[in-house]
Amino acid sequence: MASKTVITFGTFDVFHVGHVRVLNRSAALGDRLVVGVSSDNLNFAKKGRNPVFSQDERLEIVANVKAVDAVFIEESLEQKRDYVLEHKADILVMGDDWQGKFDFLSDICQVVYLPRTPSVSTTAIIEQIVGSS
Ligand code: CTP
Repeated sequence: MASKTVITFGTFDVFHVGHVRVLNRSAALGDRLVVGVSSDNLNFAKKGRNPVFSQDERLEIVANVKAVDAVFIEESLEQKRDYVLEHKADILVMGDDWQGKFDFLSDICQVVYLPRTPSVSTTAIIEQIVGSS
């Protein structure tokens, strides 16, 4: 059987256990995992704040996760179709906070939504640190 490439996307700022779990679960769906790491500009547009770690630092962290085979910078949310085609992905994985939002890509790949790890997020960690200072 042909090998399967999985693709997923995220900011992965202030890397935490929810991130490593989604990467491990994504990798388990195929043979090769490619990760699009949101650019600093895209993160600002999505979340209204600059990431704590720069895109180069976040790219380096994600690239060094055992389950990850390749990384690239995601410059725009609108380019998902191009990224899936460019990386020859068979499966697109998104967190279930995006449930249904990427079904329009199911003509070119399988679209899978994974449940988020409860009670952890970059935003909550930042708020906790700010609140405790
Ligand atoms: N993720 C997850 N479980 C969490 C947090 C994130 O599975 N508790 C997944 C997201 O669904 C996504 C990937 O990790 O597939 C990257 O998410 P990202 O937005 O970078 O992380 P968050 O912690 O959700 O960041 P923020 O609080 O800034 O929204």
